[in-house]
Amino acid sequence: MEDTAAPKPASASRTVMTFLVFPEHANALGKAFGGQIMAWTDMCGGICSMRHSAGTTVTAALDDLQFERPILIGDMVTLEGRVNATFRSSMEVEVTVHGENPATGARWRCVEARLTFVAIDDKGRARLVPPLLPESDDDLARIAGATARRDERLARRKPR
Ligand SMILES: CC(C)(COP(=O)(O)OP(=O)(O)OC[C@H]1O[C@@H](n2cnc3c(N)ncnc32)[C@H](O)[C@@H]1OP(=O)(O)O)[C@@H](O)C(=O)NCCC(=O)NCCS
Repeated sequence: MEDTAAPKPASASRTVMTFLVFPEHANALGKAFGGQIMAWTDMCGGICSMRHSAGTTVTAALDDLQFERPILIGDMVTLEGRVNATFRSSMEVEVTVHGENPATGARWRCVEARLTFVAIDDKGRARLVPPLLPESDDDLARIAGATARRDERLARRKPR
């Protein structure tokens, strides 16, 4: 791997996406289909990781994901992605998904997911990512948490 770039703060790659839930995004109960929420989650996290690493990334892992509350047809879905920590070529990105009722303004959390993205070069090889520049105590706590989770994640990694 080549030399790494200058450190970047998480604020530089923060990614926010909002969608309206249409019938084609929903299941037979009129609730947003879990697979659709997961696809948007992967997309939001992927864009965030690409912004941080200034290039292509692939999804390597998705941690335990739980749907806390449903989002219904006609509701809005807002996803927010931020880089929690960077390692050599990989990054932990946290994506939070909220539902919002456009009529009442009520807003609720649906999902909080953590994904690992690996930056790759044009030959598909892992490449170094810029280090994360912490700007607050919260940033430092996120790095510590992500580092502990990475150890657990890699211990569970399937042998090739
Ligand atoms: C992810 C992938 C690029 C890793 O490639 P690899 O040759 O195994 O690379 P390495 O063992 O050198 O690991 C590269 C990085 O990936 C990380 N990694 C690999 N597998 C991982 C996993 N299951 N969970 C978390 N991190 C993982 C390693 O920790 C390493 O990170 P680091 O450089 O920050 O230390 C490869 O497994 C792959 O292409 N997987 C398929 C990705 C894909 O198709 N995603 C869906 C569509 S985007």
